[in-house]
Amino acid sequence: MTDLGKSTVYQIYPKSFYDSNGDGIGDIRGIIEKLDYIQSLGVDYIWCTPFFLSPLNDNGYDVENYLKIHPVFGTMEDVEELIAKAEERGMGIMLDMVFNHTSTRHEWFQKALAGEKEYIDYYIFREGEEDTPPTNWQSKFGGSAWEYVPSLKKWYLRLYDRTQADLNWENPKVREELKEVIRFWKKKGVKGFRFDVVNLISKPAVFEDDFQGDGRRFYCDGPHVHEFLKELVRDTGIKDMITVGEMSSTTLENCIRYSNPEEKELSMCFNFHHLKVDYKDGDKWELMPPDYRKLKSLFEDWQTGMQKYHGWNALFWCNHDQPRIVSRFGDEGKYWKESAKMLATMIHMLRGTPYIYQGEELGMTNAGYQDICQYQDVESINYYDIMLKAGKGREEALEVLRQRSRDNARTPMQWDAGAYAGFSKQEPWIALAGNYQSVNVENQEKDKDSVLNYYRKLIALRKEYPVIQKGAVAFLYPEQEKIFAFRRIWENQELFVINNLSGQVVSMEDGITCEGKYLIGNYPVKKEWNQLEPYESIVYLKERI
Ligand code: GLC
Ligand code: CA
Repeated sequence: MTDLGKSTVYQIYPKSFYDSNGDGIGDIRGIIEKLDYIQSLGVDYIWCTPFFLSPLNDNGYDVENYLKIHPVFGTMEDVEELIAKAEERGMGIMLDMVFNHTSTRHEWFQKALAGEKEYIDYYIFREGEEDTPPTNWQSKFGGSAWEYVPSLKKWYLRLYDRTQADLNWENPKVREELKEVIRFWKKKGVKGFRFDVVNLISKPAVFEDDFQGDGRRFYCDGPHVHEFLKELVRDTGIKDMITVGEMSSTTLENCIRYSNPEEKELSMCFNFHHLKVDYKDGDKWELMPPDYRKLKSLFEDWQTGMQKYHGWNALFWCNHDQPRIVSRFGDEGKYWKESAKMLATMIHMLRGTPYIYQGEELGMTNAGYQDICQYQDVESINYYDIMLKAGKGREEALEVLRQRSRDNARTPMQWDAGAYAGFSKQEPWIALAGNYQSVNVENQEKDKDSVLNYYRKLIALRKEYPVIQKGAVAFLYPEQEKIFAFRRIWENQELFVINNLSGQVVSMEDGITCEGKYLIGNYPVKKEWNQLEPYESIVYLKERI
């Protein structure tokens, strides 16, 4: 059984990680060439986002064939080598299983389009007239969630792009096909799986209009989702592997069930509530400063709730869909380094398994694009138009993208200060962030005090101290909006973690006394505080005898 509390996962977006053959696009050999770097972080697993055959309309989350590798990323031999060489270095590869939908170029969908009844049942088709979709549900990428096929006189459901058709999990044949995919990759030696938007797989028996929202309340954590997951895990024998489900608009109760070992579903869940505290009225495309009270109470509810009912959290700020955390809840300017370290401390000292998204360990920032032409992401491009149509000015819409676009995470990894940040010998497929000459691996390797070396310490601390791996968590200073503090307790060890979420000095009227051993922090060590410096972070360990 995987030691979830001891482990840290590193996420790679292959297209933007490292280009080994100079075509401007990152690839699998690029990951192989950088394995020493990844190992030097001390991580245990590498989650690679999809590199399977795909038209790449959603950068690989639109899979055409789950068992083939897209030639732009490499070959099956490359993947085998990656698995073997990662293992030699004590790291396991986790693959990304996109099982809620396939590309419309998938053979199954092509057969459905050709009218083969058996394959029409693989997807969610509904009879209907061309001008009336079966429901008013909205796609996550904008517009109706239904697409009409005139030759069949039917609509198909697509919660994402029109080229990503939702699979019909009610059909046992579909479930068998997907189990085969898992078995195939398990045999190749991968050590775990990430399941894309897996809480959306079970749609309701009856499709009805949603007059309160975009339809999600009918299919998030849907009627048979737990059953389907149990069956998938049981029949593929992956119970003891590391598995993480991406849960969209989920609830604590469901995540406990998904991740409680007794349920035999998954090892852990990603949920996104803490990354919506700067969405105005829950709308990603409306800017608002972060609501720190809400952030604190969400972490508290999820941490203590999961603990009480034996669930397990994936801990994360960043992934390939999220803006960069230092630009979002930290500071790109004066306190860039301090805030990057503080945000890292918060996540890495909590109860759960931390995930690091490529470049986060350098404090990489948002892209800062000035022109709509620089954006590549289907969601960003769609929403730019939607915002203009809704009356926003061009500059205003661009500002929203600068803060919210998924491309903020997808700029090339910053390896050095040379041409194209050392990512490629050619112009990369997507524009670089402007600050690669200062923020890059080469610079930070040389600097003992760098964000990179701070992440290394955090990962090592988790390996060393059982209290970080499995200590019970309790939250402190509930009344202080900008202070995120907690204790962890395990046997005779007690961990004390305090973070200032703000760029201002915060005075602590009664003072804080830290007893024991100083483990890590982002300012010079002191013993007593009457105040916390901007974005200050402090971690102490007390061992009771
Ligand atoms: C997940 C992925 C995202 C993708 C979507 C549809 O949210 O992380 O990148 O666009 O699912 O597959
Ligand atoms: Ca390449």
